[in-house]
Amino acid sequence: MTATPAATPATTPAAARAAEILGRPVSLNGLTMPNRIAMAPMTRMFSPGGIPGEDVASYYGRRAAAGVGLVVTEGTYVGHDSAGQSDRVPRFHGEEQLAGWAKVAEAVHAGGGTIMPQLWHIGMVREQGRPPVADAPAVGPSGVRTDGTEGAGKAMTQRDLDDVIGAFAEAAAAAERIGFDGVEIHGAHGYLIDQFLWAGTNRRTDAYGGDPVARTRFAAEIVAAVRQSVSPEFPVVFRYSQWKQDAYDARLAETPEELEAILAPLAAAGVDAFHASTRRYWVPEFDGSDLNLAGWTKKLTGRPTITVGSVGLDGEFFKAFQGEGSALRSIDDLLDRLERDEFDLVAVGRALLQDPEWAAKVLAGRLDELKPYDAASLKTLS
Ligand SMILES: Cc1cc2nc3c(=O)[nH]c(=O)nc-3n(C[C@H](O)[C@H](O)[C@H](O)COP(=O)(O)O)c2cc1C
Repeated sequence: MTATPAATPATTPAAARAAEILGRPVSLNGLTMPNRIAMAPMTRMFSPGGIPGEDVASYYGRRAAAGVGLVVTEGTYVGHDSAGQSDRVPRFHGEEQLAGWAKVAEAVHAGGGTIMPQLWHIGMVREQGRPPVADAPAVGPSGVRTDGTEGAGKAMTQRDLDDVIGAFAEAAAAAERIGFDGVEIHGAHGYLIDQFLWAGTNRRTDAYGGDPVARTRFAAEIVAAVRQSVSPEFPVVFRYSQWKQDAYDARLAETPEELEAILAPLAAAGVDAFHASTRRYWVPEFDGSDLNLAGWTKKLTGRPTITVGSVGLDGEFFKAFQGEGSALRSIDDLLDRLERDEFDLVAVGRALLQDPEWAAKVLAGRLDELKPYDAASLKTLS
């Protein structure tokens, strides 16, 4: 089923071009999405007991009905005692939780969209004493936090690694069973998987630490286990970033060669697409090329990619929009990159949180109707 935004004539030639290019369908492994607009994963904490309720289903469903081609859900905890620290973040295990999620998937499908849960383990970000399992320790590659604090948690044993790998695989199998269209593994922003990828938090001297390939081993084992637990045509997306939640300047890779060392084993393990998380999509990733992180990822792996970062944040999106410390960007830049196949999908976060109709407006060329972003929208789920 395909969402059909209202066929109002586009207001300007730029708006018509945006509607046409972003409105092109795209396929990922066995899945065809109606257009290039993805909803970026955004934690909302509106799921008491870890159970997404009807309000969560209608929150995602209305965005799909308004044209979002792919919904990537907020991060949802896998079934491991140390995976999270909030009782209001949805979990992707347990009967009631999965029943809630099945209704979310139904609502998105009814709207004509596709949906993947973002599978999440927060690792060393966890503070002890917090729900859902109060006495569970924070776990990570070396028991070190992103800021270098030592002794705040537990360095994972082989048994811990196996348990977490198994939890991701079970969650992915559940996703397919209850009607989702794929899964996204959260390997970004300084959470557990990224803590392994990044030398700043991974000080292991065993097979899971050391050079970039060794640091990628845990992530690759998760991908391989997930891949094995679902059908071959079920898409597996891997999200990663250079930046960390509390360290915007941190980098996994300083050069394309270093990045390739990390991405190649992940692609080989079965990643169908990468979601390269950046805060501003137009920033070149490495010297000597305009390619952004998603562009480099596609070039290095040959896999489709999703870009993200400050798309549509300005009400003036259609004429131009500006990010901190950056020159004005015209929508044409984003569209040119899509046309050059630098990346395949565009994820939109805050602008879609603010305006559930964002995709419908863009796909119908009604750019003049977009609402400017206001952080107050974080407080409600609508
Ligand atoms: C409220 C909020 C919650 C977020 N939660 C997540 C999350 O659960 N998982 C994740 O990978 N990124 C998360 N992000 C990052 C977004 O997915 C996205 O990468 C970021 O907001 C940049 O996109 P934007 O400029 O379009 O908002 C979150 C962002 C916001 C604003």
